[in-house]
Amino acid sequence: MALLTINPDKCNRDGICADVCPIKIIYFKGKESLPVSVPGAENLCIRCGHCVAVCPTGAISHEIMMPEQCLPVKKEWRMTPEHAEHFFRYRRSIRVYQKKTVDREVLARLIEMASYAPSGHNLQPVKWHVIYDSVELKRLTGLVADWMRYMIKKHPDVANLMHMDLVVAAWDAGVDVICRDAPHLIIAHGSAADTTAQTSCTIALTYLDLAAPPLGLGTCWGGFFQAAATFWPPLQEAMALPKGNVSYGAMMAGYSKYKYQRMPLRSKPQVTWL
Ligand SMILES: Cc1cc2nc3c(=O)[nH]c(=O)nc-3n(C[C@H](O)[C@H](O)[C@H](O)COP(=O)(O)O)c2cc1C
Repeated sequence: MALLTINPDKCNRDGICADVCPIKIIYFKGKESLPVSVPGAENLCIRCGHCVAVCPTGAISHEIMMPEQCLPVKKEWRMTPEHAEHFFRYRRSIRVYQKKTVDREVLARLIEMASYAPSGHNLQPVKWHVIYDSVELKRLTGLVADWMRYMIKKHPDVANLMHMDLVVAAWDAGVDVICRDAPHLIIAHGSAADTTAQTSCTIALTYLDLAAPPLGLGTCWGGFFQAAATFWPPLQEAMALPKGNVSYGAMMAGYSKYKYQRMPLRSKPQVTWL
């Protein structure tokens, strides 16, 4: 199949597909001509689907997506600014979870929603690793505590900054402030050699964090876990990510024990305008 296929009966030659193409591989030979792609377009196209998504008449198909496969944008579902502001402000970091596992299908849907996050060059480099079993999560969390013990001994300045002594003391007393007794942990990982992977994982996890409340889920960034996953070989080994991949972020997930009633205040944005 060709990279782009144009339905001549539907194409109204408005040029919008060429205008929005990020790589500018679509052009028109003349006013009445159909859109065509530049030589070598197959190697340049980032497969973002903008040409298919923007065409008002559904005249353009890409080799990996036809207009009929792409869900239409529902105007009636667009958030008002008030709804959007509420949506961004009501999400909370959840640190107290019900002792209840989340169905795999629900976590899979959460991850699917997060997979629509933007990625550099549309490379979509984010891979997901779900620590679904809470016993296994406890074992991995114990390795984070081991890393902290090592840090307290060998790098006390860094350990002090992160109050690792308190975290370890809590862990030893049976209180988990590392993964908060969450039933599940979702790790976003990618190739260590891919320079876009870290940012893409962070953005995808941010999407995941935002997608959780509409699914009735609570999430919290696993900052301690991610730090240990970056620096502590025993944890890296235990996570068993595919060879060459590293963890770029971790998110606890489960059902919140409590409901929040109000949205806390935050500092005013510091903005400079030119
Ligand atoms: C990169 C990052 C790492 C974080 N790590 C942790 C963590 O290890 N444990 C934790 O309880 N909260 C962690 N948090 C949550 C923040 O403390 C939280 O976002 C902040 O207090 C604001 O609260 P809110 O998310 O409810 O608005 C982290 C947040 C971010 C963005």
